[in-house]
Formats: sequence, structure tokens, C-alpha cells
Amino acid sequence: KTSLRERAASQGLIYGAAASYQPLRANLEFAQRFAQECAILVPTNELKWQILRPTPDQFDFRRSDWMARFAQKHNMLFRGHTLVWYQALPQWFKETVNRKNAERILTDHITTVVKHYAGNMHSWDVVNEAIAPNGSKDGLRQTPWLRFLGADYIEMAFRTAAAADPQALLVYNDNNLEYDNPKTEAKRSRVLKLLERLKSKRVPIHALGIQSHIGASSQGFNAKKLRSFLKEVASLGLKIFITEMDVLEKNLLELENRDAIIAGVYQDYLSLVLDEPAVNTVITWGLSDRYTWAANFAPRQDGAPVRPLPLDTQLERKLAWNAIALAFDQA
Ligand code: G3I
Repeated sequence: KTSLRERAASQGLIYGAAASYQPLRANLEFAQRFAQECAILVPTNELKWQILRPTPDQFDFRRSDWMARFAQKHNMLFRGHTLVWYQALPQWFKETVNRKNAERILTDHITTVVKHYAGNMHSWDVVNEAIAPNGSKDGLRQTPWLRFLGADYIEMAFRTAAAADPQALLVYNDNNLEYDNPKTEAKRSRVLKLLERLKSKRVPIHALGIQSHIGASSQGFNAKKLRSFLKEVASLGLKIFITEMDVLEKNLLELENRDAIIAGVYQDYLSLVLDEPAVNTVITWGLSDRYTWAANFAPRQDGAPVRPLPLDTQLERKLAWNAIALAFDQA
């Protein structure tokens, strides 16, 4: 039986999940289950600007500090998400940040936040989702950071983070890299180009995070293409983390056998990516269906509650849990 954390550890892998402050704090049974199953904790939102930065000159570490202590108390690693993103910015951002002050505001933020956890942070998602989903000329997503600082904001962020904590692993994290279609393929090659450029400029970067929000109804993976992408990333000397896995059912899965289908997606995807030795960390975007972003952001059209995670709403292990455990055993 054991736990996902033990099953992973026995293969030299790290398993963990994202969680929010509120349920960890308020639901003792959930907190216990979390500590039992997970070797790493990622605050879902608590390290985003929106929560950390109530005003331009304030940092509010209360929730994230509590979570860091919770991780430490339960012998879990702690992982930071995320320093530079175009979403989850506070109200004041729009009125305050401009071309002139953006560099100072960004580097101050990174320095203060990364120093605050220096020595206690397993890894940081330094930059999240910087590649355009499709089409833009140099491949970068249009964000306030790109607009104010140009393409160099990415390397600036990594260098600033490394100076503030030389120990934390520094990660570039992105989504929609998993499927087999032309858009995804273009995005993979853009991510590769970015990583190559950063490495060639000796930017301190240690891993690629592949979010892995997988649609259960999508056409599936191309094992050959995905493997060769992972191999190319690894050949740059980078580790690869699966950072936000869950299986989204949208409206298409029949209620009867959806748990089996979802488990099958976990099994297929994880056994594929774990073939690559550089993949050494697997994180799901939540642990229990009771607390999943998908309930609000990727609901079923028929209104039935979604079941994207390893534990059900009663915190019991599901078929998805078995599939993940099996993928670890076979890695
Ligand atoms: O806490 C407030 C609550 O007080 C208020 O009543 C409610 C009204 O909308 O909002 C609540 O905050 C929401 C928060 O989730 C907690 O549910 C925010 O509005 C909402 O923006 C926030 O969404 C998060 C989203 O990122 C944007 O930051 C999701 O929880 C979180 O799961 C999601 O995570 C992202 C990763 O960071 C990056 N990759 C994709 C992933 C899924 O979208």
C-alpha cells in the first residue's frame, strides 16, 4: 500500500502536489493525507504577486510562511510558484508599473521573495508561460513584462533569482507542451529555442517544468515526438519536472467509466515521460478532487463534479492513485 511519496522515493523520484493555505489549515484530515502522500508542497496561489503584494511597497508572507513551516514540520520539500507571470497580478500593478520602473519593481520583487526563502526552497518557477500559445513573431507571449522590458526580462529574472538564492533550482515552467498537433509542436520547438538561448548565454537555469494539465478527451500523445523533445531538453543539461499534472474531462467522459479513463491517461503519460531519466519530479495540481481548480475553471457541461486528481472528495484513493503508483513502480 504505502504512499505515493514512498513509491516515488523508492525509484529516486519526488512526488508531491499543489495545495492552498485554506484547506491545509482548516481540514486536519486533508493536511494529514497531504503529508502522508507528498514529499513536496507547492502553494497554488500564495506566492503569486496577487497575494504576496497587497500594495507596491508591501510583502505579505503570512500564508506562504505558514505553508513553508507546514512543509518543514512534515519533512516535505517546498517549491515556489511563481515569480514572473502575466496573470495573478495585483490591482495596483496596472496603475503603477511602467517602462521606467518595471526593472526595479521586478528585480526588487524577485530579490525580496527569493531571499526570504533562501536555503529552504527546493525550486522556483522563475518564469511561467512566457512563450506565445501561437504565432507571434519572436515566439514570446505578449505580456506587460515583455512590453516594458523586452525579451531580456527572462534572463534578468533568472540571474536575479540565482543571486538571491544560489541553492534553489531555477525552473522555466510552461503549459500545452504535451499533445500531438502542429500548434503544440511549434510551441515545443520555441521552448527548446528559448532554453538553448538561455544556456548559451550562461543564464542560471536548472530545469524545465512541463505543467501537464491533460485533457482526457484529447487525441493523445505522440510517444516518439515527446520522447525526443525530452531528450533534447535533457541534452542541454536540464532536469525536467512535471509540475501541475491533472486530467481534465471537460464534458465528454461518460460518468460510468471515467475514473478508469482518467487513470489510463495518468498511466500512459507518466510511463512515457518517466522513461526519460531527466524527469525526476512529478507534481499534481492538487491532491484531492475536493480541492481542484478544475471545479471552477474546467467544469463538466453536465454539472457533475470533476475527478481529476489521485484522491476523491472523501480523500480516498482512486484508480488515478493506483495508476500513478504503478507508473512510479515501473519507472
Ligand atoms: O480567494 C478568492 C475568493 O476570496 C473570491 O471569492 C473568489 C472569487 O472569484 O476568488 C478567489 O480567488 C481565486 C483563487 O483562484 C482561489 O480560488 C482567484 O480569483 C483565481 O484567479 C485563482 O485562480 C488560480 C489561477 O491559477 C490564477 O492565479 C487557480 O486557483 C490556480 O489553480 C491556477 O493555477 C494555474 C497555475 O498558476 C499556472 N498554470 C495553470 C494553472 C491552472 O490555471
